[in-house]
Amino acid sequence: MNLTQKLLDWFDVHRRTHLPWREDPSPYHVWISEIMLQQTRVETVIPYYERFMDRLPSIEDLAAVDEDSLLKLWQGLGYYSRAKNLKKAAQIILDQYEGDIPPQWKELTALPGIGPYTAGAILSIAFQEPYLAPDGNLYRIGARMIMEEEAIEKTSSKRRVEKFLESFFSEDRPGDFNQALMDLGSGICLAKGEPLCQRCPLNSGCLAFMEGRQGEFPRRKEKKNRREKEKTLLFIRRGKDVLLVRRPGKGLLGGLWSLPMIAGHLGEEEVVTWIDEHLGGSFSSYLVRYNGAYRHIFSHVEWDMICYLLDDPRPGKCLAGERESAFLTYSGEAGGLEAFDEALWVGPEDLVRKYSIPSAFLPFFTEREVDEI
Ligand code: ADE
Repeated sequence: MNLTQKLLDWFDVHRRTHLPWREDPSPYHVWISEIMLQQTRVETVIPYYERFMDRLPSIEDLAAVDEDSLLKLWQGLGYYSRAKNLKKAAQIILDQYEGDIPPQWKELTALPGIGPYTAGAILSIAFQEPYLAPDGNLYRIGARMIMEEEAIEKTSSKRRVEKFLESFFSEDRPGDFNQALMDLGSGICLAKGEPLCQRCPLNSGCLAFMEGRQGEFPRRKEKKNRREKEKTLLFIRRGKDVLLVRRPGKGLLGGLWSLPMIAGHLGEEEVVTWIDEHLGGSFSSYLVRYNGAYRHIFSHVEWDMICYLLDDPRPGKCLAGERESAFLTYSGEAGGLEAFDEALWVGPEDLVRKYSIPSAFLPFFTEREVDEI
């Protein structure tokens, strides 16, 4: 039996079930799931995907959704530009393609957020077009099979691996071919830990297996160190309301709601002085307490964060929904708060339901605090 048949036979028996996007692989379903699955594990994606489809079952719904609701649906998945690109692409699909996802490579890859991998997945799985969907799993499998000696990050290595996979591609079942390799990558040809080669349907065609050198491939480029940045966050409360700032549209966590942030680590005394100097009258009576430390790793940078709780001890009226204009003056100046576009007092219900707080900040919103504020 040839490799193609061995792979597809294996898939027919061992394919992963309970993946909701596989139940009805429409172009919309495949598109949304593949975008969510980039950089995010299947188990994490499933509930997000189900909620997304409940709330936005069609391209029309996605094109019309307001950004805050969309980001709320995405909250916790990270890489928020993915969500923003989905909405932009949905609007283009409505304007230019009468609401139907175009079944052509050129049109698809011209849409925001759709690269060769996603286009290949949509074309093969939803349209049964003969395209490879080369993600990390496929490159890892192929690199082991041909013992690709160069780092897999290099375009030339990727091309060699793609060419090899294409040599036993299934034109009859292109979507199943790609998904079989994805399942093989997640269950057999593992990225972490020993691959389970004895059970692999492709082991008769795998050079690394034959030489017992599976662990050496894929070769990797040496990693550059992530930059580390120290941040001081301010959790400012007045009664049940908390002050949030919206980060500038471009850049890391662009357009998302954040706690006000200062570059560097400030001690408790320094925070009190800092408030006097920078925020002055309106905030100087606030009580300052240390609220813990947390590290968050993004792809290129790591934030080493400490947080202070600032409580207004004076009883005051509810501020939820009000902008904090006093605060705006201090955005972006040297030694001041990191830049933001708006500052808003948010009440406890809206905090949970309406605003998407990126995962990086969630440790400072323990459940107790969210209940309390
Ligand atoms: N990972 C990326 N795409 C996938 C898919 N369609 N099924 C399972 N895992 C995946």
